Amino acid sequence: MLDVDIGKLHLKNPLILASGILDESGETMLRIAKNGAGGIVTKSIGKEPREGYENPVVYELPCGLLNAMGLPNPGIENYKDEIKIAKEGGVPIIGSIFGSNPEEFSYLAKKMEDYGADAVELNLSCPHAKGYGMEVGTDLELVEEIINSVKRAVKIPVWAKLTPNTNNIVEIAKAAENADAFVLINTLKAMAIDIDAKRPVLKNVFGGLSGKAIKPIGVRAVYEVYREIEKPIIGVGGIENGRDAIEYIMAGASAVEIGTALYTRGIEVFKEIAKEIEEWMNENGYSKISDIVGIAQVR
Ligand SMILES: Cc1cc2nc3c(=O)[nH]c(=O)nc-3n(C[C@H](O)[C@H](O)[C@H](O)COP(=O)(O)O)c2cc1C
Repeated sequence: MLDVDIGKLHLKNPLILASGILDESGETMLRIAKNGAGGIVTKSIGKEPREGYENPVVYELPCGLLNAMGLPNPGIENYKDEIKIAKEGGVPIIGSIFGSNPEEFSYLAKKMEDYGADAVELNLSCPHAKGYGMEVGTDLELVEEIINSVKRAVKIPVWAKLTPNTNNIVEIAKAAENADAFVLINTLKAMAIDIDAKRPVLKNVFGGLSGKAIKPIGVRAVYEVYREIEKPIIGVGGIENGRDAIEYIMAGASAVEIGTALYTRGIEVFKEIAKEIEEWMNENGYSKISDIVGIAQVR
């Protein structure tokens, strides 16, 4: 009942682990696969190993999480075994990568393909890493070049993860039109101040806001892009329960990714949300996810 197709990828359910949460190591990805995720996106991996920023890198707010990890990762050359272990879970593994130009992105994508990743997700959207992520992902020409170059380099599907830190996400999606799917959205650039210390809370000052607070922005992004471009969309941002996931699907998402809810609901979250979606579908007379994709679109 819950299985979905995203282009040529088949998922047993539409709930995918988002990049950056318990997905730097093969062992944790395997645990998540065994706990019911329909697919897994790895932590974003770059060419060289990176330590990331100094602590504090994460701060909990009443409405979500603020993080500025600084893209810590072991580097692509050290990532082969992690993919191999994660693949034992029997669900599609999507290799997330970040770079600063088309050559770097295609190099990383090819490595991920060689390691056995079932798709690559291009991080064009991290809001707090100088020279990467959002800084690359808001340059329309560069986005187009990166997508075209990665498409030439690999045969596996290419997913473009776009930033909400723009006044026109549709324009960016159009620049990324040759991707096989869009992933919407990454975190929103934000900050918090400790008024007693009279200083920003995060060492990096600015971070990315995720969780509950950003769900309406993610739903809007999915809704807007769905009506303009015919490509599968994976919705991300603030999904904590079955109703949140259905909201994204009704806006136009074929599947969703879940990140922050792993902190709030624990590793069982995939099984639980799958059950909640199934119950809702039974109560409302739907037998396939594809029957609800985009049904809230008002023309
Ligand atoms: C601690 C943390 C680390 C993250 N690291 C990455 C990353 O490496 N690459 C990426 O594309 N997104 C990263 N994200 C963003 C998430 O993948 C996701 O887009 C965002 O958190 C919104 O979803 P959520 O509200 O379900 O967490 C990270 C988010 C968090 C909270």
